[in-house]
Amino acid sequence: MSAAIEVTDATVRYGDVLALDGVTLTVAQGRVCGLLGTNGSGKSTLFKTVLGLVPTDRGRVRVLGRTGPVARRRGLVGYVPQSEQVDWAFPVRVRDVVMMGRYGHMGRRRKARTADREAVAHALERTHLSELADRQIGALSGGQRKRAFVARAIAQDAAVLLLDEPFAGVDKRSEAHITELLLRLRQEGRTLLVSTHDLAQVPALCDEAVLLQQRVLAHGPPEEVLRPETLMAAFGAPAQEEEPAWTP
Ligand SMILES: Nc1ncnc2c1ncn2[C@@H]1O[C@H](COP(=O)(O)OP(=O)(O)O)[C@@H](O)[C@H]1O
Ligand SMILES: [Mg+2]
Repeated sequence: MSAAIEVTDATVRYGDVLALDGVTLTVAQGRVCGLLGTNGSGKSTLFKTVLGLVPTDRGRVRVLGRTGPVARRRGLVGYVPQSEQVDWAFPVRVRDVVMMGRYGHMGRRRKARTADREAVAHALERTHLSELADRQIGALSGGQRKRAFVARAIAQDAAVLLLDEPFAGVDKRSEAHITELLLRLRQEGRTLLVSTHDLAQVPALCDEAVLLQQRVLAHGPPEEVLRPETLMAAFGAPAQEEEPAWTP
């Protein structure tokens, strides 16, 4: 069985900025892998590298044995981008965004058939967005927007899902809902790579975790990667507890 995600010695630069430096990472099928790291550590770049959206200086990527672009064209890999990377003013309805997940299943003329419309309706139901299907995507809350992109991946029926900060800017209720959705997708045997700042989410959601800082600093069971010594290497020393104020 081929690995779901296989990145070998990938180096990516944006001009003078070294975003990824010799990253090697394998995620087996059916696993949920948490991608951790500070701002600017290269998480979003790693997702784009897997998808073949940024050129690599060096290295090799395979998704279920195919290159990123081929995996994308065949609808094998779904992507929930970081919110900052989406043009929310773009005049599309929630339903249209979810239908984009079906493009890989349609012919060249992108004509939606009954099966496509049913897949979209089902994905909207699973993400509790049916009522909001005709709303413009920008008119949703942060959590609803994330769910709309998860719905797109569900409609796509992608075996591998890349989720860039799905918990950023969402309220507690949406957070719980998204976690539950992701755990279901895992039960269905899909592979998930999920970046998050919310370390508290990791043990409940992830089978394994990767700590990134241009390079892979650690990769293993969440309890190992979340050890203070390991985290300190990436996030710096924790804030000292304040001395209690002296009162006479
Ligand atoms: N399009 C770009 N052009 C130039 N620099 C970029 C671009 N995208 C990201 N970077 C830089 O690459 C580094 C990694 O960024 P990114 O992958 O977005 O990290 P993260 O998602 O972990 O915050 C950062 O230093 C960032 O400023
Ligand atoms: Mg990012």
